[in-house]
Amino acid sequence: MHADGRPPLPDRVVRALRCSVCAAGLDLLERTLRCPSGHTFDLARQGYVNLLHAKIPAGTADTTDMVAARVEFLGAGHYAPLTELVAERAAALTGDHGLTVDAGAGTGHYLAHVLDATGTDGLALDVSAAALRRAARAHPRIGAAVWNLWEPWPVASGVAGLVLNVFAPRNGPEFHRVLAPGGALLVVSPGPGHLAELAGLVDLLEVDGDKQRRLDATLGEGFARTGHAEREFTMTLTPADVRRAIGMGPNAHHLHRGERLARLDEVREPIEVTAAFRVSEYRAVEPGR
Ligand SMILES: C[S@@+](CC[C@H](N)C(=O)[O-])C[C@H]1O[C@@H](n2cnc3c(N)ncnc32)[C@H](O)[C@@H]1O
Ligand SMILES: [Zn+2]
Repeated sequence: MHADGRPPLPDRVVRALRCSVCAAGLDLLERTLRCPSGHTFDLARQGYVNLLHAKIPAGTADTTDMVAARVEFLGAGHYAPLTELVAERAAALTGDHGLTVDAGAGTGHYLAHVLDATGTDGLALDVSAAALRRAARAHPRIGAAVWNLWEPWPVASGVAGLVLNVFAPRNGPEFHRVLAPGGALLVVSPGPGHLAELAGLVDLLEVDGDKQRRLDATLGEGFARTGHAEREFTMTLTPADVRRAIGMGPNAHHLHRGERLARLDEVREPIEVTAAFRVSEYRAVEPGR
């Protein structure tokens, strides 16, 4: 129990989770999830549960530094127009007060806003324990589980009314399997020109906007696109914000190379940076229909 009497994981999340060894249902006893065959998974002190039994490749999960940069950057409200749009669309797409699964939830920033807008419970899946420490505390109705999205998920079929996927790996067949029939999928990906000024500044990997056709194709046959929106706005970023924007993304791993850090130090004034996003909506359909 939490100090306020809440269970440490929402009931609906416990009922949705499956044992990652034998796929049976799980019960929560005190702070341990247990299946009928006796496989157990302890909740971490910070409230998330690790269901992984295999090592994941180095460099896959967000590190503590990346997580700290993201918490500060998102907390400063630079992506607020996107956060509001995601919450608004989630509310429009979610019919009942069921379960929202956030695939690659990170710190739980978007999921927390979606839960407020929809009244649903939330399951945050991510391979980064550092990120899920934050996600587990981001909202009282979030349950957070460490998992590799490329493996079959330890989640029952048909339990989710909404799957959320924000700048994270997309496993179309698993999105489809965990969604209830007619359930909705909301995918956020970078649009053309996203953070372009930063890519030029420190010569980082070009941020290539996801092409809509490519995005639709990666999801497979089980989804019909029902809507999409593009949002572009200009952010005024301080030198510290610029470092965070770079430090929270995949380029963080390559920053120490060459002159990049030195060139970042030359940014001494706030600069204008483009944010560009694509928000795509889908319904789960029977493949072949
Ligand atoms: C760019 S972050 C986005 C996080 C969050 N959705 C947000 O927008 O704030 C990508 C997230 O995907 C996670 N991730 C990357 N590969 C993964 C995998 N194979 N399985 C689960 N999570 C993964 C990372 O740990 C990271 O939290
Ligand atoms: Zn088991």
